[in-house]
Amino acid sequence: MRTYLVTGGAGFIGSNYIHYMLKKYGDEIRVINVDKLTYAGNLENLKDIEKRENYVFIQADICDSEKINHIFEENEIDRVVHFAAESHVDRSITDPEIFVKTNVLGTSVMLNAAKKAWEQPDGTFKKDKKFLHVSTDEVYGSLENSDEFFYETTPYDPHSPYSASKASSDMLVKSYIDTYRFPANITNCSNNYGPYQFPEKLIPLIINNSLQGKKIPVYGDGKNVRDWLYVEDHAKAIDMVQEKGKLFEKYNIGGHNEKQNIEIIHIILETLHNMLPEDDARKSRINESLITYVTDRKGHDRRYAISPDKMKKETGWVPDTMFSEGIRLTVKWYLDHQDWMKNVTSGEYQNYYKKMYDAKTE
Ligand code: NAD
Ligand code: DAU
Repeated sequence: MRTYLVTGGAGFIGSNYIHYMLKKYGDEIRVINVDKLTYAGNLENLKDIEKRENYVFIQADICDSEKINHIFEENEIDRVVHFAAESHVDRSITDPEIFVKTNVLGTSVMLNAAKKAWEQPDGTFKKDKKFLHVSTDEVYGSLENSDEFFYETTPYDPHSPYSASKASSDMLVKSYIDTYRFPANITNCSNNYGPYQFPEKLIPLIINNSLQGKKIPVYGDGKNVRDWLYVEDHAKAIDMVQEKGKLFEKYNIGGHNEKQNIEIIHIILETLHNMLPEDDARKSRINESLITYVTDRKGHDRRYAISPDKMKKETGWVPDTMFSEGIRLTVKWYLDHQDWMKNVTSGEYQNYYKKMYDAKTE
């Protein structure tokens, strides 16, 4: 039975990935989820699978090399899928240091532990061991023209402390591939959306604010462009890279689904409005009057657009979920899980929101 060590499995994409893998492979695989449970980690996301015999949760910090080495010593790990990171750009602008610690040092600890466990006396690695580093399209910087795309060969040009820390971690993984022929892949994905996303990110924030009758803060002119991919398609892509991709290679993942932020906001307002029942008092409040333009994000990247051509060609991956369907599923999920939203937005989230948004003027 193959054992997967998933870091950051209690976060948004990690928990969706674990669900995807257990649904796809059933009892054929074993999953060890290693997560520190920061504000972004939530075991509620995994409630329905927590009692499975082939799933284990270990609370640990990826920067704690002793603990991480111990996990490798105690378990024969076949695959590492490394999601754990500080992931929110706005937080990286107000508090950059934790991004360097978790994203750079944490990745270095994971690489060292896997290398130690998998390296043989002659310097080659045990058969069929693979490490996948989950990264972002933000490492490539920002595009201006609508006909330009990020390719695997595009030079790195990160702008935020978040993207700089992810770029550094990518470079570390690359250095292990180049120096040791360490059995790794790097994937760079565009913006994900779907169930279990923490409402500091645009889409769940719009949904939550709209339902609460709160203003929807739009940074700058609202015309920044992101390429949105349904999270399950990202999970599928990661699995396909490990199963069908070429070892040591880097793959860009994206849905060719570019939209301006303001378009996303209009789509969500309309979807929410249509989905709420006639007798729901919130229905009439959900309209464009909630939109408010606020101070722009510092160093705000204008446009991300990624080419997934290599991924399609070498692994056969294509996204399954069209944006119209993905947004419908996402809005429905949040409407069906209002307790989940209530739990994650009580307490510390209120302080975060006040600190982050009070500083922005209309
Ligand atoms: P998230 O913030 O929702 O989850 C991060 C998880 O990592 C949380 O469970 C958190 O508790 C855990 N974590 C943080 N620091 C840790 C530490 N020191 N030790 C152990 N666990 C720790 O993030 P996400 O949106 O799910 O992103 C996951 C990964 O995918 C990140 O590496 C991110 O850079 C990358 N990525 C995200 C997107 C996106 O749109 N969200 C797109 C491309 C790539
Ligand atoms: O591109 C991949 C990246 O996508 C990931 O690497 C990051 O982990 C993930 O957080 C995401 O980064 P973004 O900065 O693109 O996502 P965010 O949801 O924070 O913002 C999306 C866009 O919406 C961006 O242009 C900023 C804007 N925005 C965001 C928030 C939270 C607003 O206008 N208002 C807001 O309140």
